[in-house]
Amino acid sequence: MSQKRVAAIKIEDDPEGYPLGAFCIPAHYADYLEKIIIPLGVVKDRTEKLARDIVEDIGDGPIVALCVLKGGHQFFHDLLEWIQIIGRTSTKNIMQIRVDFIRLKSYVNEESTGEVQIIGNDDLNGIRGRNVLVVEDIVDTGKTMEKLLGELKKYEPKMVKVASLLTKRSKARIHGQAYTPEYVGFDVPKKFVVGYSLDYNEYFRDLGHICLINEKGKEKFKSD
Ligand code: IMP
Repeated sequence: MSQKRVAAIKIEDDPEGYPLGAFCIPAHYADYLEKIIIPLGVVKDRTEKLARDIVEDIGDGPIVALCVLKGGHQFFHDLLEWIQIIGRTSTKNIMQIRVDFIRLKSYVNEESTGEVQIIGNDDLNGIRGRNVLVVEDIVDTGKTMEKLLGELKKYEPKMVKVASLLTKRSKARIHGQAYTPEYVGFDVPKKFVVGYSLDYNEYFRDLGHICLINEKGKEKFKSD
């Protein structure tokens, strides 16, 4: 009997997390983080499960996997790697994957600018008539994803599903009023998180674990 799916793993509002000394942290960030909230190994294990859920749901035909840069690149890599592992160890015909990339920007420091800019993309004509899996790092208010989904619609894909490693627990989301992706790894509190490709003004992407940044870090790496 298959186990019931968990929509997203909830990280508590004031998570105890893990002390920085419990895992390995690059020395250049050690003074600027508060705690680890999701260790890299847990991210990877959850990604395997999401890959299996995706294959179970839409795995019997070709898809275009669309990576939302820059923050989504690590999750995209790991998710696709798992989908390929599942494919080569299965006797069934598992999804054939094409990849595309799109670059969006909406944040400065910890704040959304309220405007979502598409600042680079492949020729999106490749998604016409195809099943698309959008892969994103984090969905907060959902505005970025809504804007992107609006753009994608213009190219008339057959179907679009979204996998996001994280969602943020905004009031709107708690009340079911914010866009929520089909596949979510973890639901995190309304705090700024970094690591595993998630950045603060382009810093912390080269940190494996998902962490909370401290006040010293916000000041040190703030944008002018
Ligand atoms: P939304 O439009 O409010 O859903 O914001 C989503 C985008 O904001 C993501 O694609 C990220 O680039 C960025 N973002 C939101 N929260 C965070 C965070 O805690 N850390 C890093 N980036 C974030």
